Amino acid sequence: MNANAEVLFKPLRIKGLVIRNRIMSTSHAPGYARDGRPQERYQLYHAEKAKGGIGLTMFGGSSSVDCDSPATPWNQVAVADDGIIPYFQQFADRVHQHGAALMIQLTHMGRRTRWDTDAWLPVIAPSVVREPASRSVPKDMEVEDIRRVIRSFADAARRCRQGGLDGFEISGAHGHLLDQFWSPGVNRRTDAYGGSLENRMRFGIEILTAMREAVGDDYIMGMRMSGDELLKDGVSHEDAIAIATEYARRGLIDFVNVLGGQARDDMSHAVSLPNMAFPVAPFLHLASGIKREVDIPVFHAQRITDVATAARAVAEGHIDMVAMTRAHIADPHLVNKLAQGREDDIRQCVGAGYCIDRIYVGGDALCLQNAATGREATMPHDIPRADISRRVVIVGGGVAGLEAARVCALRGHHVVLFEQEAQTGGQVTIAARAGWREALSGIVRWLDAQVRKLGVDLRLGTRATPELIAAEKPDVVIVATGGHASVGDRPGSDLVHDARAVLEGTVEPTGSVLLYDDMGQHNAASVAEVLATRGCLVEMATGDRLIAQEVGTTNQPVHLRELYRLGVVLSPNMELTEVYREDSRLVAVLRNTMTDVEEERVVDHVIVEYGNLPREDLYFALKKNAANRGQTDLPALLEGRTQPVFAEGQDGYALFRIGDAVAGRNIHAALYDALRLCKDL
Ligand SMILES: Cc1cc2nc3c(=O)[nH]c(=O)nc-3n(C[C@H](O)[C@H](O)[C@H](O)COP(=O)(O)O)c2cc1C
Ligand code: SF4
Repeated sequence: MNANAEVLFKPLRIKGLVIRNRIMSTSHAPGYARDGRPQERYQLYHAEKAKGGIGLTMFGGSSSVDCDSPATPWNQVAVADDGIIPYFQQFADRVHQHGAALMIQLTHMGRRTRWDTDAWLPVIAPSVVREPASRSVPKDMEVEDIRRVIRSFADAARRCRQGGLDGFEISGAHGHLLDQFWSPGVNRRTDAYGGSLENRMRFGIEILTAMREAVGDDYIMGMRMSGDELLKDGVSHEDAIAIATEYARRGLIDFVNVLGGQARDDMSHAVSLPNMAFPVAPFLHLASGIKREVDIPVFHAQRITDVATAARAVAEGHIDMVAMTRAHIADPHLVNKLAQGREDDIRQCVGAGYCIDRIYVGGDALCLQNAATGREATMPHDIPRADISRRVVIVGGGVAGLEAARVCALRGHHVVLFEQEAQTGGQVTIAARAGWREALSGIVRWLDAQVRKLGVDLRLGTRATPELIAAEKPDVVIVATGGHASVGDRPGSDLVHDARAVLEGTVEPTGSVLLYDDMGQHNAASVAEVLATRGCLVEMATGDRLIAQEVGTTNQPVHLRELYRLGVVLSPNMELTEVYREDSRLVAVLRNTMTDVEEERVVDHVIVEYGNLPREDLYFALKKNAANRGQTDLPALLEGRTQPVFAEGQDGYALFRIGDAVAGRNIHAALYDALRLCKDL
């Protein structure tokens, strides 16, 4: 174990609670609550981290304490009535039995939420200042509203204690109601709650005082806050130190959980949930600055994904507890693996932001590279061995094939994997060549290392043929050959190149480039950035309303920032209808999707992104001799049963297709295809 890492296993005492180590997960809203309650899925998700050795897991990001802070938007937890208490008790039992502590985050979102949901109540804030992220124009709070919300916080605190939770934090981070009062740009009040910092701190003091009265001195109450909102009219680092110090001095908080930035608009949101474009631990200094001034434990999260950085943060005294929140979404068994000297087996978070981005489009948090997370009821993190060992041949060493090989090897099968290239990784390895997306390569590195360790027979640089496969006498053949890039079927498609070819290096455009994006994903934006960095004059056009429309909330701003910085011309609502040659150049015809008016661009190259078409030749060549005719039995797949072909006494090999070899989708879909099929093989 890394020498510093030992410090992570030193227990931390807060009041009567002993947290067994210094590693935690901060509260987040994974979108798993149902009807405002953390039910089985939610509880199992955190229990898995507890089983995996975590010291403290905090659930219920943004759990609401009152009816005008609706719990619906991200399927949050509602703590506004006593009906929540039995759920807390069941949850606490589930986590405590594995030795971890369990806390929740309580909040009122104020203006940082929507009014057109749940009870359709107007949102409230210290003053009538519109929030760009939620687009809500709030009502300014009357003193009666202030009193009501304080009472609601106190009632919620009582419910936490009655529910057997080890404590809670209130959120004064990400622009919730508490920090709306602190933040001078949002709090324009002229009464006792506005103006001086002392006045702006008052609301929080009154909330915490009422909560303390409700739960008693021995119960753990903490606060999450920004150590610097990074805004001209926001809470500065000095303000943050003053707030933390004052609340701690009054005995109102037993820990402070510090982060950097806030989330009131697109770019600041991306900064507060730093993805792979950001360095590791970008805001540790803010937590450290507060740690120097307060005598209560300091927690901190924000892109601490590796054990060395986590250990350094604690060993050097910057913080007391290190939160590795997304790191646990990627690998809930992180702590045990570290304790067992299996650091290399930790599936490290790559900072893709797929988990967080999904909740802003009404989805649930899923990890791009770990399909078991959030599906603990049906998908194992530890793969059990099969009763029967089979001979499995996998064709394709992209992420779908690698995951299939990993899971099959853990099942105890004999696995041969054919990959025509000299290295594994397929499209993900190619995508990782694009600028700030480099960390995607971590997904492949981990899978590759695991399959080698598990003794998978890797046949790199070998193009699989039906004969080569037959020579292995397989019981199972899994085709994971991925997809080839489409160039679309518009007139002139023979004159264009696909975006992937740029990253592969098979085409090297110079001069002016029209890059057309039909998908709205990372691919085209990444290639536009690469081309512009190389000095091309790039126009990026799409028929969509927005550039990179499908890229999520914490990733799209980073693409846009790069595209603007690089001077790429952005043309939404422009559909490519035709390309033709004119002398030595190309003419791209673009149709405005709103007006139907056509425009032409004369350029040196047209590059297009139309997604993938399956590479399926081998599948069809193998299908005719397959015992199951290549068909995956979908009811068996969805119910987690062995494929019927095995029960029927199979004659010949069973054939399956996974990932983009079936239909072009994404990394998570490829991995999920592999995991859910192979866990029952
Ligand atoms: C899906 C998801 C939802 C989140 N929701 C909340 C939330 O409701 N409240 C909160 O304080 N932080 C929330 N966060 C932020 C995390 O608590 C944490 O600060 C962030 O993930 C950075 O830490 P990390 O890099 O260790 O993941 C959320 C994070 C994720 C991934
Ligand atoms: S989706 Fe990406 S950011 Fe989220 S946990 Fe997985 S690897 Fe980390």
